Order: sequence, then C-alpha cells, then structure tokens
Amino acid sequence: MYEQVLLLERRDSEYQDLAGYRLAGGYSALGSTLRDSSPEQLIDLVKEAKLRGRGGAGFPTGLKWSFVPKGNASAKWLLCNADEGEPGTFKDRIIMEQTPHLLLEGMTLAAYAIGAAKAYIYIRGEYVTAIRRLEREIQASLQAGLLGKNILGSGFDLDIYVHRGAGAYICGEETALIESLEGKRGQPRFKPPFPAVSGFYKGPTVVNNVETLACVPPIVQRGADWFRSIGSEKCPGPKLYCLSGHVRRPGLYELPMGISLRELVEQHAGGTHSGKKIKAVIPGGISAALLPEPALDVAMDFDALSAAGTMLGSAGVIVMDESTCMVRVAHRIIEFFHHESCGKCTPCREGLAWVEQMLGRIEAGEAKSGDLESMERLYGNIEGNTFCLLGDAAAMALRGVVKNFRHEFIERIQQGGRAA
Ligand code: NAI
Repeated sequence: MYEQVLLLERRDSEYQDLAGYRLAGGYSALGSTLRDSSPEQLIDLVKEAKLRGRGGAGFPTGLKWSFVPKGNASAKWLLCNADEGEPGTFKDRIIMEQTPHLLLEGMTLAAYAIGAAKAYIYIRGEYVTAIRRLEREIQASLQAGLLGKNILGSGFDLDIYVHRGAGAYICGEETALIESLEGKRGQPRFKPPFPAVSGFYKGPTVVNNVETLACVPPIVQRGADWFRSIGSEKCPGPKLYCLSGHVRRPGLYELPMGISLRELVEQHAGGTHSGKKIKAVIPGGISAALLPEPALDVAMDFDALSAAGTMLGSAGVIVMDESTCMVRVAHRIIEFFHHESCGKCTPCREGLAWVEQMLGRIEAGEAKSGDLESMERLYGNIEGNTFCLLGDAAAMALRGVVKNFRHEFIERIQQGGRAA
C-alpha cells in the first residue's frame, strides 16, 4: 500500500497550521539538517535521491542547486514557482492550501542549500485561499523561530515573501517570472545564462516548483534510498497527478512516479463517467501532446512520456471520451495559447493568431481543401522558432491532435458545418 507523503492524510485541517504539522513530525528535517549537515551535504542528498523538478521539465534538482556559485560575492535568491497556470493542473494549490508548512520547510531547506537569505513565493493571484494561508503560516513560523533571524539557533537567516501574480500564464516561465518580480512586464529572457547563474536582479537564483520543494523534507527525513525505492529508476519518488475531464472520480492523486496512465485513469479515477470509451488523454497539461486510447499503457514519468512523443509536464491528466470533437479540442487549445502569448516574438504572436483563425474556419465548416496543409505548414514554422516554449508547446499540442485524429479535420472540411 502506497503511503502518501505530499498530501499527508488530509484529515480535516490538522496539517494546515504549524501545531498540526509539527505534531506529524514537521520541521524535524529542518532541525536535523541545520544541526548536522552542511549545505553541500544537503545538495548531495537531493542528488542521490534523484529528485527531478516537478514543474514540468524534470531537471535534476540537486544539480540545479549545485550550479549556484559558492561564497558571498552576491546575494542569492530562492524563488518558488507557484504560478500554476497550466490548464488541467491544480496540484500546487492543494499543497499550499492543505500543507503550507511542507512547502515552507522545503523552501527553508533549499535556501540553506544554496545560501539564500531571501525567498519569494510567486503565486497565481487567483489562489486566494492559498495566499491567505501561506501569509498566516509565515507569520506563525517567524514567531516560532522557524523563519527570520538565526533559525532554530543555527545562525542561518531566511525571510519568505508571498508575491501575487496578475493572471499571465507566461509568468510561470521562470525568466518571465523573474522579470515580473522585478516589476517589469512579464516576458521571457533569453537562456543561457540560466537563472542559477544570473537571475533575479542578475544574482544567482534557483527557481523551483512547489511540488519539487515539498519533496525535500520527506527526502531528508526518510533518506535518499527510500525516495529512490518509489517509482521509476531514473525518475523516482512520489508524484501528484491531477485528473480531470470525462472521468468518474476527478481530483488529485498522489501515487508513485511511473504508474501507467491506463491504471491511473481506469482504476484510480474510475474510467469515464459516461461509461463511453476513452478516446484520448492529455497526460501533462495542454502543453503536452495527447495520446490516443491504445497508447495509454505508457509509464507516467519524464523519460517514458518523452519517448512516446509527449511529456509528463505538470501531470495535468485530461481525459476525453469518444463523444469529444477533436477539432473543437484543437481550437480550444490554440485559443488559450494565442490569448496567453506575451507577444515578444513574431512567430508566436502572429503565427498563433493565424492558426486560431484557421481552426475557427475548420470548426465552423468554412474551410476549403488545402487549408489543413496550410495550417500544418504554419505551425511547423512556429515550432523551434520562438523565444520560449509557449509557441513550441502550442504547436506540439496541435500536432498531436492532428496526427492522431486527422480524419476528423478532413471530414469537417469536406462536409462543412458543425458536427452534431
Ligand atoms: P527548461 O528545460 O528550459 O528548464 C528547466 C529548469 O532547469 C529551469 O529551471 C532551468 O533554469 C534549469 N536548467 C536547464 N538547463 C540548465 C543548465 N544548463 N544550467 C542551469 N540550469 C539549467 O524548461 P522550462 O522552460 O523551465 O520549463 C518547461 C516546462 O514547464 C514544460 O515541460 C511544461 O510542462 C512546464 N509548464 C508547467 C506549467 C505549470 O503550470 N506547472 C505551465 C507551463 C509549462
């Protein structure tokens, strides 16, 4: 039986405040680390655990921390990316609402590892409950000597601030997040340099996702071997999966990394609520290409999904039953990306506008023969030619729909008019 460590047991509200979290053993990881381990030893432990970033890209967390230059030459920063904007994704919100101290303890450990004295939680502005809870619990931690000056008598100082985003999806991209936090328009920077070397106000900056940071206290408490014993060999550990769409039991599931997508959807989420067959599943938020039903036996981890031509991304699993119109799905996805394009680069800003118009014509039955091929050329020109991943993600998602359900686009063009 899998034991939850990120969602804990979610009984009533006992983990939402400091007293409850401490009763469950909370902050013992921080206490033992500050007492017995150097920052380098903590980085080595996280490397040994093979923790990979849960924001979507799966970059090794310990390695990212180790890129931060040692010494006190310039201020270092820890930024928690809580700007959870990927459609179908709600895992970070639940951590922040249900177990805010798991994140705060994880952040304090991460800040200790990289030598940061200031940290920010850049949080999606709509997450009002999470914002209030985090602000309240930061105050409680300050009063308990778990934040602020000389934490637990160790000589280590850390302040954590909550910063609300203003509703732009692109600010979840780490360099746009940094620009926004600096008070500028949220648009991506060119990488390299990566933030670990030059980030917030040009200082060394680690940007980690909420779920990534929440994995750190359990790793310290239970050890790297325990973490590696869960899930896939190259992508171990617990994982949060967000299930939505046509499923009987939508919601958030904590299960091992690497569980099969079919088991997740059919057994845990109970299959479709309509009793109809599954037509396709998006495995990792709408940036990830969908998988048709026969492909659902894939493992839910970074490498297996990448080999299957898609990605784990934010693990926002969206299930579609056979009643779903795939032309409508494609149009809806592109509407989102076009709306959220920051406008900095031409292929994304102009290309997505055109693709959206073409999809609108196809859906309305007003397209003509050859339009599908023109649209494919157009999104082919967006892919690989944009400043950040937003344009690529849009093209990848659309390519996945067209590749697997091309006949629906052709039928709509040939027949015209809306599907019944
Ligand atoms: P990326 O691969 O460029 O970077 C991943 C992380 O590793 C970054 O923190 C980057 O700074 C670091 N990194 C990579 N190479 C490095 C190097 N050589 N030196 C130092 N640091 C290095 O990917 P990106 O653009 O940060 O994230 C893309 C992912 O974000 C996608 O997979 C997508 O699924 C996900 N995403 C998640 C959303 C959410 O709401 N959770 C929303 C939108 C996208």
